[in-house]
Amino acid sequence: MTDRVRLLVMVSGNGTNLQAILDACADGWLTADVVGVISNKADVTALVRAAKAGVPTVVLMPRPEEDRRQYDRRLGDIARTFTPDLVVLAGFMRVLSMEFLAHYPQRVVNLHPALPGELVGTHAIERAFAESRDNWRTHSGVTVHLVPDEGVDTGPVLASAVVPIHADDTLESFTERMHQQEHELLVQTLGALCRQQTIEQPREVSQ
Ligand code: GAR
Repeated sequence: MTDRVRLLVMVSGNGTNLQAILDACADGWLTADVVGVISNKADVTALVRAAKAGVPTVVLMPRPEEDRRQYDRRLGDIARTFTPDLVVLAGFMRVLSMEFLAHYPQRVVNLHPALPGELVGTHAIERAFAESRDNWRTHSGVTVHLVPDEGVDTGPVLASAVVPIHADDTLESFTERMHQQEHELLVQTLGALCRQQTIEQPREVSQ
């Protein structure tokens, strides 16, 4: 066992959060390596980011005839080849079943662009902004949590942060601030998890 934590990152899109993780690994802030990136979509920017960093990628698109569990079984088979310590869902827009999750108890981490329990599912940033224009929402936030089961964007919270919505915000300016907060919170939380992993599984010292 080395003291570098093996991260498998799963993505579906732009991959700005993947980039934040790659950068933090490269500059030594995270004592970790992204050992693989799996995308459920082809031709997404996240794959280009991974390739530029020299990280192996796999595109695993769902087949029309297969159900969630069958897909997740194939996903699990591929994930296993990377022997990850942690699986990070960085904008992976599929709900995972126990077929996959059972293999990684306490080891799947999800990022959600809202405060715990709020705005679950897709387009949380856009929905928060729309609610602020209806004059009742003043802030949203970002959550990083464990994924113990098939619940959507729920699970034990590892960290969260509030992001205010200003009166003069546009969707673009609010989205940008949300993404900045996501990148920071995700990397910080992974840092804490990586330290935990290396403490729980201390490196063998030769005598
Ligand atoms: C992020 O905003 C992430 O929080 C969100 O997808 C985006 C991915 O951005 N995830 C969810 O909405 C999960 N419910 P990225 O591809 O640029 O990292």
